[in-house]
Amino acid sequence: MKQIQMQDTYINKIKNLDIKKKYSVLTMGCQLNENDSERISGMLEESGYTKTEDLAKANVIVFNTCCVRENAEDRLFGKLGEVKKYKEENGCIIAIGGCMMQEKHMIQKLHESYPFVDIIFGPHTLQKFPEDLYKAIMENKKIEDILDIDGEIVEGIPTVREDKIKASVTIMNGCNNFCSYCIVPYVRGRERSRNPQDIYDEIIDLAKRGYKEITLLGQNVNSYLVSEKSKGENVDFSVKGQDGLVYKVNSFATLLRLINKIDGIERIRFISPHPKDFTDDVIEAIRDSEKVCKLIHLPLQSGSTEVLKAMNRKYTKEQYLNLVEKIKNKISNVQFSTDIIVGFPGETEKDFEDTLDVVSKVKYEQIYMFIYSRRVGTVADKMENQVDEKIKHQRFDKLKKLAENIIEEKNKNYVGKTELVLVEGKSKTNEKVYTGRSETNKVVNFEGNENMIGKILPLKIVSEHMWYLKGKYDNM
Ligand code: SAH
Ligand code: SF4
Ligand code: F3S
Repeated sequence: MKQIQMQDTYINKIKNLDIKKKYSVLTMGCQLNENDSERISGMLEESGYTKTEDLAKANVIVFNTCCVRENAEDRLFGKLGEVKKYKEENGCIIAIGGCMMQEKHMIQKLHESYPFVDIIFGPHTLQKFPEDLYKAIMENKKIEDILDIDGEIVEGIPTVREDKIKASVTIMNGCNNFCSYCIVPYVRGRERSRNPQDIYDEIIDLAKRGYKEITLLGQNVNSYLVSEKSKGENVDFSVKGQDGLVYKVNSFATLLRLINKIDGIERIRFISPHPKDFTDDVIEAIRDSEKVCKLIHLPLQSGSTEVLKAMNRKYTKEQYLNLVEKIKNKISNVQFSTDIIVGFPGETEKDFEDTLDVVSKVKYEQIYMFIYSRRVGTVADKMENQVDEKIKHQRFDKLKKLAENIIEEKNKNYVGKTELVLVEGKSKTNEKVYTGRSETNKVVNFEGNENMIGKILPLKIVSEHMWYLKGKYDNM
């Protein structure tokens, strides 16, 4: 029997149980993790559960964990302390899934310090959640459902999305790169790409349900099908289009071009690409596809060639800058965002200056900055030249200041221009104010009305503020 069909039986069994069914899911990681949470919610809602934000009222509490940096772990342990009292009061089921559960020392820690946890599962066993839950409820025993080897890609898991306008779609799982600081390859396994027809059908369905923006997700989204090709697999897929034509998909570029044709989808984003696989065909597909936003997230990590080498990133400072130049030459008005780590082992003042230099040259729209965090089992954790915490923080603050200066300077260029803004909803703080995102992912606030939600409107930018722009809709 196929995995997901078997789960249907468990979903039905839970549905027929006469018990209280409220659930909460706490997402602690990246967008891939969030996408997994949408599937956990999907399986729970199919089983008759309804969502509550109030942990005290939940009968099932699921933590979807992350372990990419230490602070993600601290958050879990803080929250577990809080839910212990709910467990004692109303006997709720506590389940922990996600990347951290692939780490043996973390499971050990849970056994020792948090024995009240009922279900432990991982990203490779996510689809078996209904079975694990049923057994935990009916047999009243602790479930540990972890697979060490990479799970297969399972299609057809029910999904419940919070957002009605923007949706993320995972196109590949895992990572083969083993950047020396990063835990992801150890917990998410090797790269596995989804079949393009499944991706296409999912996005068609989202478009029919009114979604306007799609974000394609993967740890190395532009390496889509690359590792399959390197294994010698035939990856020349035929995809049956909604126009009745047959399209060939054999790369990220051909996938982008295909998704660009889907009626109803107006914006396409993708994260995260790896600079090493940012080939010309990908650049050209972005240029030619009018729905693909011209904001490219291009993780830098460090601007120093020495540090990049120690990080095992497979590009130099010059190669990165050349790539940025090449993209700028081929795509007019393109903008960039990035991820940067400060304080990698052995990073000298000179190395850090190189990072600042790249930041000054590329002038990113947005920078996600991280202080290097040691991860057990990674190569960098064993390096002896760890940087002093104080220096790490000083560098972080310096980078932050530079990034903010650039953002401020760039924000000024928006004033007086008209930006196309996808309206997402009402502002949380002011009834009359609506909020949306520009193509470059800037938050734009403006006075609007209910009917504008879900539409892309031209808004004239009237003023800039550090983290948002103020816009005006002229036809009102
Ligand atoms: N696959 C993506 C994202 C991986 S995780 C990529 O390669 O870009 C998201 C970000 O977390 C990374 O880009 C990196 O900047 C940061 N990160 C990963 N491991 C880290 C660590 N040990 N310490 C600090 N930041 C880290
Ligand atoms: Fe981690 Fe590097 Fe893979 Fe990104 S590419 S997930 S940073 S190992
Ligand atoms: Fe964290 Fe796993 Fe994402 S470790 S960053 S949740 S892939």
